[in-house]
Amino acid sequence: MIEDNSIQKDLVKAELRARELGFEDAEAFLRYLISANASLESHGEQGSDGVREYYRSKSGIMYWGDSRAYMASKMKDESVDLVMTSPPFGLVRKKKYGNEEADRYLHWFRGFASQFHRILKPTGSLVIDIGGAWNPGVPTRSLYHFELLSMMCREYGFHLCQEFYWWNPSKLPSPVEWVNKRRIRVKDAVNSVYWLAKTPWPKANNRRVLAPYSGAQQKLMKNGYEAKLRPSGHDISDQFSKDNKGAIAPNLLAIDCPEEAPNLLAIPNTESSGHYQDYCRKNDLPIHPARFPDLLPEFFVRFLTDPGDVVFDPFAGSCVTGEVAGRLGRKWICCELDESYLKGAIGRFTKRGPKQRRKPTSYSIAPPCSVEGFDDAPLATGEKAVSRKTKK
Ligand SMILES: C[S@@+](CC[C@H](N)C(=O)[O-])C[C@H]1O[C@@H](n2cnc3c(N)ncnc32)[C@H](O)[C@@H]1O
Repeated sequence: MIEDNSIQKDLVKAELRARELGFEDAEAFLRYLISANASLESHGEQGSDGVREYYRSKSGIMYWGDSRAYMASKMKDESVDLVMTSPPFGLVRKKKYGNEEADRYLHWFRGFASQFHRILKPTGSLVIDIGGAWNPGVPTRSLYHFELLSMMCREYGFHLCQEFYWWNPSKLPSPVEWVNKRRIRVKDAVNSVYWLAKTPWPKANNRRVLAPYSGAQQKLMKNGYEAKLRPSGHDISDQFSKDNKGAIAPNLLAIDCPEEAPNLLAIPNTESSGHYQDYCRKNDLPIHPARFPDLLPEFFVRFLTDPGDVVFDPFAGSCVTGEVAGRLGRKWICCELDESYLKGAIGRFTKRGPKQRRKPTSYSIAPPCSVEGFDDAPLATGEKAVSRKTKK
């Protein structure tokens, strides 16, 4: 009887500890601890949260384990300036790196949301890069990423500072069935990137992320501009022709990710990401299949943090965020569940190039409705595929 009682007490304790660390219940935490222990290689001491230090550079640390557990047990309140991350997307078909199904996504994300809110400084920001998803079997979109945004703001008290769209010019058309075969949807070429904060006033300065002026703007600054009221009602003053050393970036970030279509636009992201891939190939390690290009974290690290600030990526993957943050003189912490990705991530830190500004690359997007001869292509409705023959 006494023994039963103490087991009961231990179970309650385990349940409470699991929840404290962000797990659904004690069973989920136990499963996580078993899988973390199952690895053959040992890198450093594993704490009671199942998280261990994996690699350390001058500016940051990579941890191997569940970032919910790491945040709950190791991170202090209001200690982080920027959480910059790309969680596994709620894709309908599960991918190798463990996507949660769309309908379970919000529930799964809660364990992270509360911790993000706790660890962020009042001046800090949370930036989430998230891709959209299609519902299974029908040409309609899942609402999961909109629901995530709504949950973060309504339930966890985040403020939406601005939504960004990352346009990837080398994205291939998909899903093939709706876009290429039946022609009833268009190419999905953007990821949403949510910039959230604990207060409406996180620190930021768009001068840090200026883009070069367009040719038209340069001409205008050279030749001057007649100040007048635009038909839209905008009062364009002569300030418009003032040279502010660069154009204010829009919330559409055009960044190529050539892995998606290596033969179409083979523009390397940066030398360092080439170095990462070479390192993985040379050491027979998996190259992370869902990396973001380094310009994405670079934009937000420059825009929202100062040198010396702390940048945290809780879904680190190949640790692009850590590499960029370190290169820009920020401190970084990366946490990743899958050890095989961390092995490759170390390659990012074995050779560090000098800090350098990126050379401007511009992408063009052709206007739609500019190809002749398809005005009478039949419109499809219902489940039947549209005939491929179109009258000419
Ligand atoms: C979309 S990838 C991030 C890729 C990364 N931004 C990059 O560029 O390499 C999401 C990563 O989150 C990791 N992950 C999933 N759940 C996690 C958890 N609870 N704690 C830490 N990492 C997790 C996955 O293993 C996966 O590598």
